[in-house]
This record gives sequence, structure tokens and C-alpha cells, in this order.
Amino acid sequence: MKVLIVGSGGREHAIAASVKKSPKVDKIYCAPGNAGIGQIAECVPIGAMEFEKIVDFARQNEIDLTIVGMDDPLVGGLVDEMEAAGLKVFGPRKNAAVLEGSKAFSKDLMKKYNIPTAAYESFDDPEKALAYLETAKMPVVLKADGLALGKGVLICQNLEEAKEGVRTIMVDRKFGAAGNRMVIEEFMTGREVSVLSFVDGKTIRIMSSAQDHKRAQDGDQGLNTGGMGTFSPSPFYTKEVDAFCHKYIYQATVDAMAAEGRPFKGVIFFGLMLTKDGPRVLEYNARFGDPEAQVVLPRMKNDLVEVAEACIDGTLDRIDLQFEDNAAVCVVLASQGYPVAYEKGFPISGLERFDGEEGYYCFHAGTKQTEQGIVTNGGRVLGITAKGADLKEARANAYKATEWVTFENKYMRHDIGKAIDEA
Ligand code: AMP
Ligand code: GLY
Repeated sequence: MKVLIVGSGGREHAIAASVKKSPKVDKIYCAPGNAGIGQIAECVPIGAMEFEKIVDFARQNEIDLTIVGMDDPLVGGLVDEMEAAGLKVFGPRKNAAVLEGSKAFSKDLMKKYNIPTAAYESFDDPEKALAYLETAKMPVVLKADGLALGKGVLICQNLEEAKEGVRTIMVDRKFGAAGNRMVIEEFMTGREVSVLSFVDGKTIRIMSSAQDHKRAQDGDQGLNTGGMGTFSPSPFYTKEVDAFCHKYIYQATVDAMAAEGRPFKGVIFFGLMLTKDGPRVLEYNARFGDPEAQVVLPRMKNDLVEVAEACIDGTLDRIDLQFEDNAAVCVVLASQGYPVAYEKGFPISGLERFDGEEGYYCFHAGTKQTEQGIVTNGGRVLGITAKGADLKEARANAYKATEWVTFENKYMRHDIGKAIDEA
């Protein structure tokens, strides 16, 4: 088989590494990919939003399966365009990707189908949002409706901050059209867990749990980022939590989408908060998490290509999804200054140290191949993943491996997975 992966981050590198293990696959392409992906796939210079070019490429190269890793092309309808051209593609159609693409849609869905989530109201008029705030309990959470690179959520401690937030989202349009509508929701407290799943329109299979670290600095200080590290499984995702989510959240979501005439095929990412009243859905994503994929996929025993095909064919009920009985930790090596301002173009050394090293992975995110070798090319540069018998061992292994690579301005958090000490 020939497989095309759409995207260019650490998640897509992890997807490519899984696809490469499949005995069914002879050739992998990635659009546009990055330097690390280029070592196991042929990268083609086509952007993830260049739908026509992707369709043409897939047709001309007789691609048997396309896996879309990123949210923007999914929400934009790449899957629909590829299907219309007769191509086989893994990911939700536009009318289902809206589960991630519109917070107002996902909140309304949860309300309608009694799926546990924070109380909320949605607004398309800033005046009404401002009036509502006068009676809202603080702190309060403001969310731009659309995709905003994970930045469209503001947690406001008091009325002043919240009013300013409404103006930022709806009047100043800091997140662009994502702020045409907004959701104002109740602030919840608790531990966060990411649960990824495969869905074929009717059946759902849950992957091993994970936890992300979104803030830039140790101790969850600093700005929100795309993710500074992950671990899997989460020791806080207990049997009780799992049973609750199976009963009230997972299948309920899949059934709700089907009932709305929006059958979901692909990956649903449940962002959960474990509150004292039980698990609540914080958000849905319509794809693998980044950097969750970097700790979940290396632990998956199944052939990813087979599972993806089962999702497309509607035969996921025949798949017994299995994960290794171990743990993995991913530490992101970023450029100093991320997520605000940082320099790039620095040579990276030590990458070869990962070759043939069982249980250690160096997933590239922002890197570029140049004549002088591989250089830094983004805020998040590499994701260093290591497995271990348990989380503590995996964490020690991952931090050891972060020493193997060097580049100027290398920055990382030193407390990825520290929460597991409290478990
Ligand atoms: P989202 O993109 O909806 O997952 O929001 C990003 C982050 O904001 C989440 O991972 C939480 O840390 C935080 N957050 C979102 N909604 C809430 C809420 N209702 N209460 C508390 N924190 C929240
Ligand atoms: N790690 C969070 C996300 O992928 O959205």
C-alpha cells in the first residue's frame, strides 16, 4: 500500500512511525512533512490546506490511504474533497469535524444529549455577552467558537478581566473569524486527562489515556503552548473514571453525532476534567492530540493502518485494540522564547543517537533539512519519547534521552510527568 499523511508536526511523525511498522505498507508520503518525517517517508512540498494539490497528488500517485493529522484541513473539508475524488481517507468529514471546529456546536450537542460538561451560554452579540457576565459567577471561562491554534480560551478571574476578554474575542477579533461567536462557561477545577479514540461512525474503541502539559514553564506557569510534554497512561484515569466515561460520554458522543446526521469516522479526542462531581468534557478534538500521539501510538500493539481502514469500512467492532502494559513520557524540546518570540535555524546534533535505540523516539516538530544538516525551524522542535516499565522509569529514560540532542536555545520543562508522584 501507499499511504499519504497530511501534516508536519510531531504528531504526524508519530503517525508516520506507526504506519511504517505496518506490513501492508510499501511507501509513505507526507504533505508537507518535516526533516524527521523525511527519514521514513517522502515529503512532498504541498501545504495541508492546498486541497486541490493534495487530491491531485493522491490520484496521480495512486495513494491507497490518506491519514489527515491536523485539525485545519479536517474542519475545512479535506476529507469530503478526497472522498468525492474516490480516494480512501481516514478522518471525519467536514460536518463531523465541526465537533472540534465549533465550540458552540459541541456544547449544544452535549447539552442536547446529556453528556456531562460545564454549564455555558453561547453568544453572537458582544453586548449580550457583556450583559450576561454581570450575573455570571467568577472565575469564568471564555472561548472563541472556532479554531484558534489552541489559544482561543481565556480564563478570567473577575468581571473586569471577563469584559476585556469578550472585547478581545468579539470586538478586536484577536482570533479572527473564530470569534464571530463565543461560549461563556462555568469554571471547573480538577485534573485533566486526554483520551483518544478510534470511531467508525457507530463503534468506538478507546486508546490508552494520556496527560498533556500546556503551559510553557515548570509548575504550570507561563503562557499556554501547543503542549510541552505528555505521559501515558494517566494514573488518575482509574477504572471508575473509565466506567463513568463509557457509560455517559464515549458512546453517547458517537451516537449523538450519528443521530444528528453527522456520523463521525476518525479519531475523537476527549479532553476531560476529573471534577469532584465526576468526569466532565472540556472539549472535543477531531484528531490525534499533539503531543499525546507521541506517547500513545508507540504503545499501541495494533497495526494503525488496519485500524484506520476498519474505521473507514465501518468494521471497528472486529478490532481488539491493545496497548502495551508499560508507560511512555514525551518531553518537548522547544526554542527558548516559545510561544512568543524565538530564533530558528540552529543546527541540531546528536539525532543519530536514536537510531536503533529500542523504546526511544525522537519525533520532529519544527525542523528543516538544509545542506548543512538538520536545523531548528519552529517553536516546538523535537519531542523526545521514551518508554519504561512504569511512568517513573519512562520519565527517567525520556529525560536521559533529552541530553542526547543539542542545539542553541534548547528549552524544555523539567517537570513533565511530575504529577505521577502524587498518584
Ligand atoms: P479547551 O481548548 O476547551 O480544551 O481549553 C483549553 C484549556 O483551558 C483546557 O485544557 C483547560 O485547562 C482550560 N479550560 C477550558 N475550559 C475550562 C473550564 N470550563 N474550566 C476550567 N478550565 C477550563
Ligand atoms: N495536546 C492538545 C491538542 O493536541 O490539542
